[in-house]
Amino acid sequence: MILALESSCDETALAVFDPARGMVGEWIHSQVALHERHGGVVPDLATREHLRHFGPLIERARGSVNFSAIDGVAVTHGPGLAACLAIGVAAAKSLALALRVPLVGVNHLVGHVWSPFIALHAEDPARFDERLDGLFPHLGLIVSGGNTLLFTLDAGRRITPIAATRDDAAGEALDKGAKLLGLGYPGGPFIERLAQQGRADAYDFPRGIGRRDELDFSFSGLKTSLRYMLEKMTTEQVEARLADLCASYQQAVVDVLVRKTGLALEHAKIPYRSIGLSGGVANNRLLRSGLEKLAQREGVAFFPAQPQHTGDNAGMIAFAAWVDRAGVGRPGGMGLRINPGLSLT
Ligand code: KG4
Repeated sequence: MILALESSCDETALAVFDPARGMVGEWIHSQVALHERHGGVVPDLATREHLRHFGPLIERARGSVNFSAIDGVAVTHGPGLAACLAIGVAAAKSLALALRVPLVGVNHLVGHVWSPFIALHAEDPARFDERLDGLFPHLGLIVSGGNTLLFTLDAGRRITPIAATRDDAAGEALDKGAKLLGLGYPGGPFIERLAQQGRADAYDFPRGIGRRDELDFSFSGLKTSLRYMLEKMTTEQVEARLADLCASYQQAVVDVLVRKTGLALEHAKIPYRSIGLSGGVANNRLLRSGLEKLAQREGVAFFPAQPQHTGDNAGMIAFAAWVDRAGVGRPGGMGLRINPGLSLT
């Protein structure tokens, strides 16, 4: 069994994963309410909160799981906020020492890579490896507050990034757009809620598609175009058209994500057998249904991460540590360092 810790940003999380049974338990303390009033994550506050909450979370986990059955500890060592990562890595070292088990560092993005497959494993743990092998080559889309990435997974479980954002991440575009519209933080869920009452074709926002064969994303033009549009409107006009603005803006973000994923499918040398969707923005229903339709049309299987594994969570860290057993180049042990700028390579 693997005990995992995650503290790269504003969630303090712990999970225990048993390869024979699935996720045994997940414990999380979210700091969203604390950072909301500041309009974004305040690193210093987040660090203090992690320090405050890991102890009680570990106690809770110990109350329901026999810690003497833990075979290894996994922890997010990057990317993320330096001091936040350090709290998690220090706690993980203490646990590994106390339990006398090995410690491995997991790239947070690799956690997102594998998160869509946690549900597949839960369905039938014994047949997971065999079923997974039938899904390669796999095309994955990670959409979070800090990243927008397309990558491939091949039969050797190797990850190859194929596209990234040139500027803002999709979640960042939604959060910044929401801020311009005077909505709360994080903005994605606020935009989605208001968009339900609006018309997606009311405003024509730029799609930032670029050249026909270009896979990289760009969202900064979209945000700028919203700003210019709002500058020409009065507060009353914005209020009256808020739902239409949200629906049109959300549609533009989703269109770019779906179109680029479709383009990656077209570019494939060997046809993909499955598509995955992960990261916080994967909660968005318009995006999920857009990719589901694309997958159906192209005849590939679609695996969106389950809601509890979209945002930051420790379940995906435990799962990634197990599924990526070869752990090519994965660091670990008592010398494990944090790497705030770690990328998906
Ligand atoms: O994965 P995550 O927790 O962020 C990073 O660690 O980077 O995802 C947070 C992002 C935020 O930008 C938030 O606005 C967005 O995910 N998000 C959504 C939804 N729920 C969260 N965006 C659109 N629709 C949602 N339902």
